[in-house]
Amino acid sequence: MQKENFVLTDLQTILGAPYCVGEDYVIYCSDCLDLLEAVREEVFALTVTSPPYNIGKEYEDPLPLEDYLSWCQRWMAQIYRITLPAGAFWLNVGYIPIPGKARALPLPYLLWNRSPFHLIQEVVWNYGAGVASRKSLSPRNEKLLWYVKDPANYTFNLDAIRDPDVKYPHQKKNGRLRCNTIGKNPSDVWQIAKVTSGQDRASPERTPHPAQFPLDLVDRIILGFSNPGDLVLDPFIGSGTVALSCLAHDRKVIGIEINPDYCRIAEQRIKRFLADRQSRLFDQILLVF
Ligand SMILES: C[S@@+](CC[C@H](N)C(=O)[O-])C[C@H]1O[C@@H](n2cnc3c(N)ncnc32)[C@H](O)[C@@H]1O
Repeated sequence: MQKENFVLTDLQTILGAPYCVGEDYVIYCSDCLDLLEAVREEVFALTVTSPPYNIGKEYEDPLPLEDYLSWCQRWMAQIYRITLPAGAFWLNVGYIPIPGKARALPLPYLLWNRSPFHLIQEVVWNYGAGVASRKSLSPRNEKLLWYVKDPANYTFNLDAIRDPDVKYPHQKKNGRLRCNTIGKNPSDVWQIAKVTSGQDRASPERTPHPAQFPLDLVDRIILGFSNPGDLVLDPFIGSGTVALSCLAHDRKVIGIEINPDYCRIAEQRIKRFLADRQSRLFDQILLVF
């Protein structure tokens, strides 16, 4: 039996039926800590996630700062324990105010060393639109921390995520092209639009979830830092963006979400994606005959 199938059966025995399940995905409606603690083995090649930032969004009750950091430490320790030896962990977090000390402190300053993972790099996610500040610079970035379990052995599919926007693609040195013909290294600053809301300006991928990842952002992580067939985890899956990206790129995925309303959004999104893919496939078959 394949290892990931073993895990799915194993988890279902411990936790009961998942919220929804398909050939390559499972979504659990649960507190992620309960579920992560129940996994007994190293099974995940990659975890991509964005937890609550402790800033009072509709899906969180803010905790005293130290309690919040300890809570993050607990679930990150579990992710480390169940990550494969050559696996990785991508963490996206924003900013928090520290009364009397900081207006908007990047959470990575507080969290970066709270797990046993090895930090490879911080990636800055830069976006064009956002709130306009009056007494400070308008915020236009969030951080992503790229961690691995073993710095001598990890997945990095650079060719899968090269940036084709090269300024001088034909420039040569000693008769050889200077640039890689597929494109350049996308660097550690990623310009990717946020999912916007509002009449006439909402992104086509917008769901009612208030903190949705852009698919372009997740696609780059899934393609660059995991391989086809890998098992991916998002313990705070919200509207299911990580699941969609995994299904689009032949990865398997387990998502956990505590709020049944968001689980419903994720399930509907996944089913719509699979139905659209199926109908595109039928269209292609019809074209052949
Ligand atoms: C920042 S949002 C993630 C959004 C997601 N990346 C997306 O693309 O939609 C964090 C999510 O974590 C969920 N959550 C909060 N506490 C949780 C817990 N203990 N276990 C599982 N999910 C939790 C929230 O309901 C929320 O949907």
